[in-house]
Amino acid sequence: MTKTPMNSVAIIGKKRDGIQLDPEEIRFFIDGYNRGEIPDYQASAWCMAVYMRGMSYAETSQLTQAMVDSGEVLDFSDVVDRVVDKHSTGGVGDKTTLAVLPMVAACGVPVAKMSGRGLAFTGGTLDKLESISGFNTQLSRDQFKTLLRDQGIVIAGQTGQLAPADGKLYAIRDVTGTVSSIPLIASSIMSKKIAGGATAIVLDVKVGLGAFMQRLEDAEELAKTMIRIGEDFDMEVTALISDMNQPLGNAVGNALEVREAIDTLRWGGPADFVEHSLVIAGHMLRLAGVAQDKDLKDARAMLQEKLSNGEAWNKFCQMVENQGGDIAQINNPDLLPRAPIVQVVEAERSGYLQTINSREVGLAALHLGAGRYRKEDPVDHGVGLEIWHKVGDFVEKGQPLFTIHARTESAAEIARHRVGAAHVWSERPGMPLFYNTLFTETERVPGRIEP
Ligand code: URA
Repeated sequence: MTKTPMNSVAIIGKKRDGIQLDPEEIRFFIDGYNRGEIPDYQASAWCMAVYMRGMSYAETSQLTQAMVDSGEVLDFSDVVDRVVDKHSTGGVGDKTTLAVLPMVAACGVPVAKMSGRGLAFTGGTLDKLESISGFNTQLSRDQFKTLLRDQGIVIAGQTGQLAPADGKLYAIRDVTGTVSSIPLIASSIMSKKIAGGATAIVLDVKVGLGAFMQRLEDAEELAKTMIRIGEDFDMEVTALISDMNQPLGNAVGNALEVREAIDTLRWGGPADFVEHSLVIAGHMLRLAGVAQDKDLKDARAMLQEKLSNGEAWNKFCQMVENQGGDIAQINNPDLLPRAPIVQVVEAERSGYLQTINSREVGLAALHLGAGRYRKEDPVDHGVGLEIWHKVGDFVEKGQPLFTIHARTESAAEIARHRVGAAHVWSERPGMPLFYNTLFTETERVPGRIEP
């Protein structure tokens, strides 16, 4: 029997109707899109069909493979024994990479990270780093490898040659309401990580209002899907399910977050962010074989020492210098981009904070200009928000509640209402920072840390 030739409309229609795609169809679509033969509007329709209908594990794994194969696959085995990476599924105020990479590198573990840009209401590490004048996130493969070998720390954007199909799909998903899909997120993250040469990875799977996964069971399914893909590709994976029901730390917005990461490395940052960074970095040290204990006691002690003796901060400075960033700005963060309008908003009543809706906070930051609505939009590095309290805090009337950094008075006014309404009052204890920890060997550790 002769097979009908494949065409993109039929593939979109098949997925729209909830029918499982064949591996050849997935490859045809991804390769065609990658080569520019399938236009953005068809890719958007396909993403929406996947979003609505989902994918089986087999399809998700084939999609991952097709995206890996769309470009080159890096191999660092000639320069380091292991490459331990970390990746967050996206959150609000999530500047963890900026603090964790230098902390881990300071412990002698080489770190090489491919990062992404902001997506929907969440921020992206590359946008944050580009707040530092001159910081080059677009490195060639050889530059990336040389920095890894000689300096033990490097962070860059996905080059055009690394899982390029994911790069294109990621940008289109951001602007077509198709981000929060388990198969699309799992294949996007894992294809980049596999192509980027990581041998072990800590996945920070966010759950809650300010995450793509709102329900714990969805976050666990996403984590398990990525662990399974990791196993299929010979990668060791630890997945942490972490809270995104309120912003992480205080700062939301590119330069503001760089500043908070600098504070954390130099003198100590917000307690929740420091704790989060210690846990993520601790698991990276465990995967690197530098720390053995599962309760992360040794890892924590090592990391705390690197923070207090300044070695983690020195690593951050080394990374910025290596990649062409302006050292004067990080030594004096007042030189980082700043917004002309800074307004402190005070609490209009006393009471306990029940919710600080991180999605609303992320959307307010996006509206201020910290993120992008269209893929070609520039980001404004100076704008953003500082959220001064945590869920469960008692706040007195007149105390600073949040600070707005805006480009225009009208944008500040909108943020004032939106972020004010994101603060919900009453009496309730805080949120746990982590809900669960899942390992490659699918062993479960009761990872719940009570507030
Ligand atoms: N991060 C990614 O790299 N891809 C996604 O789809 C979501 C978060």
